[in-house]
Amino acid sequence: MRRQELFIRTILVVGVVYATWKTAGWYWSDGEEIPRSVISSQWPSVVPKPLNPEPNKPHAQQALNSFPTSLKPATPTARTTPTTQSTRTTTRAAVAPTKKAAPAFNSSARIPRILHQAFASEMVYENYLPYINSCMALNPDWTYYLWRDSDAEALISSAYPEFLAKYKKYSDVLERADSIRYIVLHHFGGIYLDMDVQCVRPFFPALDNFNSFLDQERIEQTNIFWGWPFSVMNSAMGSAPGHPFFREVINEMLHKSQIGNAFATTGPAILTQVYKQYTAVKPAVPVTLLEPNVMSPLMDGNKNWRSMCGSLAAAKSKPDSRRSWKERGCIMLESKNWRYDDSDNSTICVHRFLHLGYGFAAGARKKPFNVTARFWPRVRTFK
Ligand SMILES: *[C@@H]1O[C@H](CO)[C@@H](O)[C@H](O)[C@H]1NC(C)=O
Ligand SMILES: *[C@@H]1O[C@H](CO)[C@@H](O)[C@H](O)[C@H]1NC(C)=O
Ligand SMILES: *[C@@H]1O[C@H](CO)[C@@H](O)[C@H](O)[C@H]1NC(C)=O
Repeated sequence: MRRQELFIRTILVVGVVYATWKTAGWYWSDGEEIPRSVISSQWPSVVPKPLNPEPNKPHAQQALNSFPTSLKPATPTARTTPTTQSTRTTTRAAVAPTKKAAPAFNSSARIPRILHQAFASEMVYENYLPYINSCMALNPDWTYYLWRDSDAEALISSAYPEFLAKYKKYSDVLERADSIRYIVLHHFGGIYLDMDVQCVRPFFPALDNFNSFLDQERIEQTNIFWGWPFSVMNSAMGSAPGHPFFREVINEMLHKSQIGNAFATTGPAILTQVYKQYTAVKPAVPVTLLEPNVMSPLMDGNKNWRSMCGSLAAAKSKPDSRRSWKERGCIMLESKNWRYDDSDNSTICVHRFLHLGYGFAAGARKKPFNVTARFWPRVRTFK
């Protein structure tokens, strides 16, 4: 009897200690670990970057570990300058997505006039309305496709079945949001934009000069925040269909066994890694890395970059070769008088870093509106 009682008490004490530990862990978490129950169907499927991750946090550290350390600053293959007239005389008709297999890449093909955006459903936070509106209005002859989670899964099932198991395994909603954008660009071509990207000039003629392009984060931001020389951004990209670069991104996602860390498995880290691999061997079909001011002229305004940099006296007294990337970024930003906005007359889009997908910005979310109804009959979905 005594032994039984002791046994039961021990079980109870262990249970209480375990429950307390779990609960405390939940409360002490830094907000990056959001309980699954909080993730509803309204969770936006498009968020440009992790929530201000600090490099000393485990997930960011993992991303850094998996990132090649021998990066050199990118030499963008071209700089876009809007020209007043297009050299092209014909207008490509928008290609309506169908379930056909992705076309083989045609080296004379150009970016079709299809704008892709993605969200969990057609009920989209009103914060995005002015940005979606700006892109629709400035590109009136472009077909607009909205990729809801259900559409994404339907496309993958029918045209990229080899990716379906991986897609279903993703545990971070951002992994699904990230992966579908490379897939639609590979399959249909067009331009993909995050919903917090504002358009300030029409895409064409400037972007008509490329068969594919990638956005790049402000150099100072990448230097300071990640300690990297440069970073490709996945918030704005464009391509002709069947482009081998996006096939390589899909292949690389398939090979990443780590799951649950979108930044590394599907986000900017993997995109930058594939860009490095792809361009290292002088590809027959090039991909253009745009200068930051074309699509991402802003520093993320949620951060106080000046205070992150602190005193630069020590950094400035060193020769440039001995400076860390962070020190270089800080010195560069100081030389611009801490100007967060680098937009100029080559700027086509402005990425606004709303971060609405994260708990910390939940209070900033405005009530959702029906994007299909608001822009009727322009919004199409995959059938
Ligand atoms: C490649 O694209 C060009 C221009 O759109 C077109 O004229 C040509 O027929 C295409 N070639 C193939 C093999 O589809
Ligand atoms: C863009 O700005 C640059 C530098 O300020 C200037 O030299 C150039 O003429 C401008 N181009 C156009 C098309 O306005
Ligand atoms: C959004 O609007 C479209 C077009 O009016 C409608 O068919 C659809 O049911 C609406 N969606 C929701 C979730 O209300």
